[in-house]
Amino acid sequence: MRMRLKKHLDERIANCGSILLAREGNDFYNPEVYINNDALIDLKGVFEKNQPICLELGCGKGGWAITSAQQNPDINYIAVEKLSNVIVVACENAKELNLPNLRFLNCRVENLLHFLPEHSVTKIVLNFSCPYPKKTYANRRLTSKNFLNLYKKLLTASGIITQKTDNLDFFEWSIDSFKQNGFETFEITYDLPPNAPDNVITEYERKFREQHIKINALKAHIAF
Ligand SMILES: C[S@@+](CC[C@H](N)C(=O)[O-])C[C@H]1O[C@@H](n2cnc3c(N)ncnc32)[C@H](O)[C@@H]1O
Repeated sequence: MRMRLKKHLDERIANCGSILLAREGNDFYNPEVYINNDALIDLKGVFEKNQPICLELGCGKGGWAITSAQQNPDINYIAVEKLSNVIVVACENAKELNLPNLRFLNCRVENLLHFLPEHSVTKIVLNFSCPYPKKTYANRRLTSKNFLNLYKKLLTASGIITQKTDNLDFFEWSIDSFKQNGFETFEITYDLPPNAPDNVITEYERKFREQHIKINALKAHIAF
């Protein structure tokens, strides 16, 4: 049964064609594999228009990326998700719409520099990232030190990060982590209204708002 499910998933992924830029292999951590494999993506060849790139990390089923790409044709979007069985849903939904400014990347955030050139991204979006509440898993949080150092390499000098989360402990921990790792935070709010300017509601956000859970949000840029 497992094999059949996997085969079915592989077929669905294959049908996503050029909307899915790359799929990280299981053997990606093997240095012999990726030293010989030039995974770096030529972004000029990907998008019709040469315009700012926004990267969403942990896009889930892609609702935010699809709506944002429809609303902002002057921005190119790349939505990243590590789970193939989740990102395939996003790709299938987006493929129907044929959006020239939206592409997907099936990989772990940890490996992004194998796919994307340094300083190629003007905005990084962290929507409802997994909070990993156990202290021993803190380094998996997408706002922990190693990830913030990676974002410094991906962002342009004036680039920004936006974060939204329902989890107050994770939010306050993230504020601290941004400050300790060379970022300045701004526009911090502990109760983001659903209709705030430019707010696009994600799948998780919709569930939290239905439960009347307050949404925390901030922006950050590299400290000068
Ligand atoms: C809680 S879900 C939020 C999904 C979506 N952003 C939303 O707001 O509806 C977090 C997503 O991040 C993905 N994720 C977590 N860590 C990741 C990593 N290191 N690399 C890529 N994706 C990751 C998970 O697989 C999951 O789909």
